[in-house]
Amino acid sequence: MDKQPYIINTHSHVNMLKDNDIDLAISNARKAGIITIVPSTTVEDIFEVDKFIQKYDDIYGYVGVFPEEVKDFTDKTLSDMETLIKNNKKIIGIGEVGLDYYWDKSFKELQKEVFIKQIEFANQMNLPLNIHSREAHLDTLEILKKYNKNSTAILHCYSGSLEFAKECIKEGIYIALGGVVTFKNALKAKEVAANIPLEYLLLETDDPYLAPVPYRGKENQPLYVTYVAQAIADLRNTTVDEIAKSTTANAERIFNFNAK
Ligand code: NI
Repeated sequence: MDKQPYIINTHSHVNMLKDNDIDLAISNARKAGIITIVPSTTVEDIFEVDKFIQKYDDIYGYVGVFPEEVKDFTDKTLSDMETLIKNNKKIIGIGEVGLDYYWDKSFKELQKEVFIKQIEFANQMNLPLNIHSREAHLDTLEILKKYNKNSTAILHCYSGSLEFAKECIKEGIYIALGGVVTFKNALKAKEVAANIPLEYLLLETDDPYLAPVPYRGKENQPLYVTYVAQAIADLRNTTVDEIAKSTTANAERIFNFNAK
């Protein structure tokens, strides 16, 4: 990237917007100095994200297969991901990968197996991991401790307790927070936002889902990461510029935007 971004939105499915025009949403984010990283979810989506991010200078991507989609994961998926990474310097991480015991617990073992394979692949590629963990925090941490050697791990849309966040941070894991911190009743998320060390905080939207207040219930978009930053700044009695500066520095440390 050419100039210093204001905020790095570390998880946005801007390619999935329906109510908003995608090009307009991206240009609105660009005007606010926001760089966006788009994860892939399915085995087909890795190709879609690869193509999508090539259309925009300020959009980067992750390749990876989401826990709900691991039934389609094969060794070919790994070799496809490797080819995409080698040919597209804007693929800067592996994601979103992880464990989700909320929707379907019937294939937990397969989820774990594929999560481990994608961790080992990230290690081999020397790329960070963007991790989806829902009602699976203990298993996620246990697997990371055991199998992750050299990739920086990010818990996207972190939904656990402050105590568990601190345990993760001890292992060098980053905590990414999104629109939930703006929700009135999200006391746990607010407690995390107010108290974790700034050095381990990242910002995201997870759009089109989880739009922050005042857009709660509507379609989310990358620009709304500014509301997340503002809510965290308020909770920490600091300025939005301070939150932007710290989280951008964290993201730049993790992702080698210009290195490949
Ligand atoms: Ni997501």
